[in-house]
Amino acid sequence: MEMITRNFFLFLSQNQFIKNRATKWGPKLGAKQVIAGESIREAMETAAKLNEDGLVCTVDHLGEFVYNREEAIESADYCIRTLEAMDEAGVNCNLSLKLTQLGLDVDVNLCRDNMVRILETAKKFNNFVRIDMEDYTHLQPTLDLLADLRKQYDNVGTAIQAYLFRAEKDVRSLEGVNLRLIKGAYKESPTVAHQRTEDIDRNYMNIIKTHLLSGSYAAVATHDHNIIAEVKKFAEENNIPRDQFEFQMLYGFRSELQKEIAAEGYKMRVYIPFGEDWYGYFMRRLAERPQNVTFALRGFFSK
Ligand code: FDA
Repeated sequence: MEMITRNFFLFLSQNQFIKNRATKWGPKLGAKQVIAGESIREAMETAAKLNEDGLVCTVDHLGEFVYNREEAIESADYCIRTLEAMDEAGVNCNLSLKLTQLGLDVDVNLCRDNMVRILETAKKFNNFVRIDMEDYTHLQPTLDLLADLRKQYDNVGTAIQAYLFRAEKDVRSLEGVNLRLIKGAYKESPTVAHQRTEDIDRNYMNIIKTHLLSGSYAAVATHDHNIIAEVKKFAEENNIPRDQFEFQMLYGFRSELQKEIAAEGYKMRVYIPFGEDWYGYFMRRLAERPQNVTFALRGFFSK
């Protein structure tokens, strides 16, 4: 049943027809509880509030699969404006983005130029940019572009998905890079990815340990309290300093736990999505956890 629900929401996340009609009822469906409004200003206000609670942030201007050069350039301009706004607002916050937004599928050189503009801006503000990991078809192009960019910039990292068989090999090849480690959110083929929860969780702990033991910085992005407890224990037993890792969770999910982790003295970063193009993001969150439907329905009835 869980698999059917997951596939259903993943199907919806990619359905352009439904997407075009969803914008109207999206906020009512609970999207507003997990998306920090549509404008940069709203995202900055949310980041400032979370900072007050001892949490640091990363913001992501929602938008995926850009199909032409103009859209890709516009998207990069928006990322630059967001970095400028962070500096102006004085928030403790970095930037997350997706390479398809910046034209990865249109022209890899254009995407590279866009990233260079963004990284130059981030460097000016002493800030960091995280490249989210998308579906498997974009994995190698993302890693290739990252390797290229890292010849010039050290304020950029990416995310590695534990459901992929190749995750450990990728983590080892990215020693020294600030990596977000995640279970993985897309529907991938059994030829490339673990399908069973136990296998994904085992590989997740495996790549976290591998990255930490190599002395590299890890952002452990999960809402899974068992994984979080295991990471804390592992770090203590292996003398991994607390400034070598952070925890990350999505805005609106397990907010109390986020504050508890921060109060214990760990760095806790909240991923704040914002923007008009919230649909794919919202559907993937529903696919991950059927209970999120209840969460969404609560939002529907609360206003
Ligand atoms: P999972 O969903 O496997 O849940 C494990 C257990 O944790 C549950 O059984 C339950 O006990 C508990 N739990 C989870 N959510 C809960 C909730 N809301 N309330 C109460 N209990 C809960 N993916 C990707 O492919 N590319 C990317 O770049 C990113 N980036 C990213 C950034 C950040 C900050 C996060 C947190 C996640 C991502 N992801 C991602 C998504 C990630 O890959 C993954 O799909 C989701 O985080 C869901 O997996 P979890 O590890 O959170 O726990």
